[in-house]
Amino acid sequence: MTAGPDWRLDSLPSEVRRRVTLLAGDGEDAEEAVKGATFAAVLCHGVLGYLDRPEPLIGQLCRCTTAGGIVSIMTGNAHAAAVRPALERRWDDALASFDTRTEIGVLGVPGRADTVEELSAVLRVGDVEPLAWYGVWLFVDWLGFSGVELDPTDSEQLAATAAVELEASRRDPYRQLSRVFHLLGRKGPP
Ligand SMILES: C[S@@+](CC[C@H](N)C(=O)[O-])C[C@H]1O[C@@H](n2cnc3c(N)ncnc32)[C@H](O)[C@@H]1O
Repeated sequence: MTAGPDWRLDSLPSEVRRRVTLLAGDGEDAEEAVKGATFAAVLCHGVLGYLDRPEPLIGQLCRCTTAGGIVSIMTGNAHAAAVRPALERRWDDALASFDTRTEIGVLGVPGRADTVEELSAVLRVGDVEPLAWYGVWLFVDWLGFSGVELDPTDSEQLAATAAVELEASRRDPYRQLSRVFHLLGRKGPP
């Protein structure tokens, strides 16, 4: 949930905009904000890293999911914390990152990273069984942090890059080195 109007919504066709309701609120109060409604898919992308602890928000995500529905989480990968500072040649930061969960993220504010294993355990507490996980933005991150400029308007390169990223995202050891991971789980029956 984000506060305020979302400019991306304005760029969508009106029949899509009609299906969207924006509610401003704290994720830790999500169940109350949606008045107990449940949903076939509940997404939480790029939010957990800004919270001190992931458990309260994940508990809410699980409670807001319909039996048989999907919970989708995208967040920072604590196992790969050295990747960005090392590629940016910030060697002291890279060395320190092996034993810390927090760093100043790409948006310039402090962020905290998690692991697939830990969040999977938290999902299970909420009766959501982890289904699969993927690495996100592996090679494009490495190129970007090394100073290479990619051209997002080059559709041929974009499609070729996406094909490689998709394969890397679902295979070890590549996915384990991604700065961000995507974890999917399914809510059990009532
Ligand atoms: C990096 S943005 C990600 C936005 C969007 N989910 C996306 O994937 O493009 C981080 C978002 O987390 C939201 N956020 C931070 N703390 C939150 C909280 N306690 N509850 C709900 N949202 C929160 C911020 O408002 C911000 O919109």
